[in-house]
Amino acid sequence: MTDSIISHFNPFPTLISERLVLRRAYLTDTDDLYICMSNPNVCRYETWTAHSSVIDTLGYVNSLMIKHDEGVCTEWIIENKKTQRAIGMINVHDISERNRTCEMGFWLAEDCWGMGFASEAARRIEEFMFGQTGINKLICMCAAQNRQSEKTIRNLGMRHEGTLRKHILIKGAYNDIKVYSILKEEYNPKRP
Ligand SMILES: CC(C)(COP(=O)(O)OP(=O)(O)OC[C@H]1O[C@@H](n2cnc3c(N)ncnc32)[C@H](O)[C@@H]1OP(=O)(O)O)[C@@H](O)C(=O)NCCC(=O)NCCS
Repeated sequence: MTDSIISHFNPFPTLISERLVLRRAYLTDTDDLYICMSNPNVCRYETWTAHSSVIDTLGYVNSLMIKHDEGVCTEWIIENKKTQRAIGMINVHDISERNRTCEMGFWLAEDCWGMGFASEAARRIEEFMFGQTGINKLICMCAAQNRQSEKTIRNLGMRHEGTLRKHILIKGAYNDIKVYSILKEEYNPKRP
């Protein structure tokens, strides 16, 4: 019998790449994450709104830590190895055990855009999900206007499946959402 996908998150897996550590959350991440999560540019295409106080971020980090302790969290802090700073987050969600699918999402601190960190983190998650958890398909969705995110998604070798019209309410407006995916048989860990 195949292990469930979620069983691979207990204990929570720390994943290492060239410049990054993808790991669980700690209270000490709060200030770094507040800088990102209070920035309206970071959450422009996200369903959540910018944090107005560090207390919001503290509550969020706390809830992550509880889920990490319970072995049910599927969200990683992206830490820059060199600076040891939490520079963003990456997650898998909407896991379907029956269909062996899940969706991936990510965001970075604005001062870390344009350095390839999101692509690096996402490739490491791709490697883990296909290599360890036995998924058959990994999905990424982005607002049609979110060109930066779409570029990162395409970098992963994902293919455009279609566009869901006015599918998600973001900051009061219904957004067209582009759906991308990569299948197990298409995934090539050696791809540059
Ligand atoms: C989406 C988001 C994570 C993309 O960040 P990013 O830094 O542009 O993404 P990547 O890691 O793929 O980096 C690619 C860029 O880094 C550059 N780069 C520099 N060094 C690099 C390296 N070593 N390796 C790869 N790319 C590198 C690339 O040339 C590319 O630049 P370009 O966009 O000017 O062509 C970021 O814009 C973000 O956090 N946005 C807000 C949240 C969001 O919208 N999340 C997605 C929701 S679906």
